Amino acid sequence: MSTVFEPLPRVEQDRKVSGAQSREVEEQTPGGGNGFSEDLVVLKSPGSVAAEQFRFLRAQIIRPKSGAPPRTVLISSSLQGEGKTFAACNLAVTVAQGMDEHVLLVDTDLRNPMVHNIFGIGRSPRGLATYLARNEPLSALLHKSFMDKLTILPAGEEPDNPAELLSSQKMHSFISEVRDRYPDRLVILDSSPVILAPETMSIANEVDAVLLMVLRGATPRHVVRDTMERIKQEKLKGIIFNMDRNITRARYYGYGYSYRIREAAK
Ligand SMILES: Nc1ncnc2c1ncn2[C@@H]1O[C@H](COP(=O)(O)OP(=O)(O)OP(=O)(O)O)[C@@H](O)[C@H]1O
Ligand SMILES: [Mg+2]
Repeated sequence: MSTVFEPLPRVEQDRKVSGAQSREVEEQTPGGGNGFSEDLVVLKSPGSVAAEQFRFLRAQIIRPKSGAPPRTVLISSSLQGEGKTFAACNLAVTVAQGMDEHVLLVDTDLRNPMVHNIFGIGRSPRGLATYLARNEPLSALLHKSFMDKLTILPAGEEPDNPAELLSSQKMHSFISEVRDRYPDRLVILDSSPVILAPETMSIANEVDAVLLMVLRGATPRHVVRDTMERIKQEKLKGIIFNMDRNITRARYYGYGYSYRIREAAK
C-alpha cells in the first residue's frame, strides 16, 4: 500500500528572499553554497511550510512505519514539469542536513538534466551517461556539493541513446553498485517522466522505492492511473501532490513532441 504524503505547497513568498537574506544563508552554508538555485527552498527558506514538508518526508522515508528504510529512492512522475527535480534536490539536501545519513543524488534525466543547474555545478561533460557509455570508474565522476554529506552524480553529456543506456545491464548494475558500495548513503534519483520516457520504468523496477509526484489540478487522472499501473505495487511507496499551479500545465503534448523530434533525428 503506498502512502499519500503531505502535499507540497507552492513556494512563492518563500522564494522572494532579499539579497541580504540570501547572502546570509550562503555564508552559513558550508563551502559558501555559491550559485545554488532559488529552487533549494530548504536552504533559502528553512522556516517555510515547504521546508517543513521536506523534513516530514525525510522522517517518513528514513523511518518508515513498516519494513526496512529504502536505500535507493526514485522520484518520478507521469509528465514533464511536475516537480520531480524540485523534490529530489530539496529532499537530498534535507536528508543530508540530518544527523546521520549521507546522500548520493543522481540525475538520471539524461534527456533534460537539471540537477547540475540547481546546485550550480555547471553542465559537466562527465556523469551518469559517461559511466554507462564509457565504463569510467564511478568515483571519478562524483561531484562534492557544498554540503559534506551530499554527493552528486550529474547526468553528464547528452547521449544519443538515453533509452538504451538507462535500460541497460550497466544501469542495472549501477544501482546495485551504489547500494552496496555506499552502505551509509541514501541514493536519491531524479528521473524523466514515466509516460514520456518509458525507460524510467527500468530504473523504477531496480530501486527500493518510487515516489510519484502528481501536479494537483493539472495531471489528468487517467494519466496518473496509467503511471501507477506501470510501476510495481511493492515499489510504489508514496504519492506526493505538488500544489504548484504556476508550473506550466502538464506538458503532455509539448514534451512528447520534442521527444519525437529527437527520436526522429537519430
Ligand atoms: N512546490 C513548488 N513550488 C514552487 N515552484 C515549484 C514547485 N514545484 C516545482 N516548482 C517549479 O516548477 C518548475 C518545474 O519543476 P521541476 O523542474 O522540478 O519539474 P520536473 O518534474 O523535474 O520537470 P521535468 O520533467 O522537465 O524534468 C521548476 O521551475 C520548479 O522550480
Ligand atoms: Mg526534472
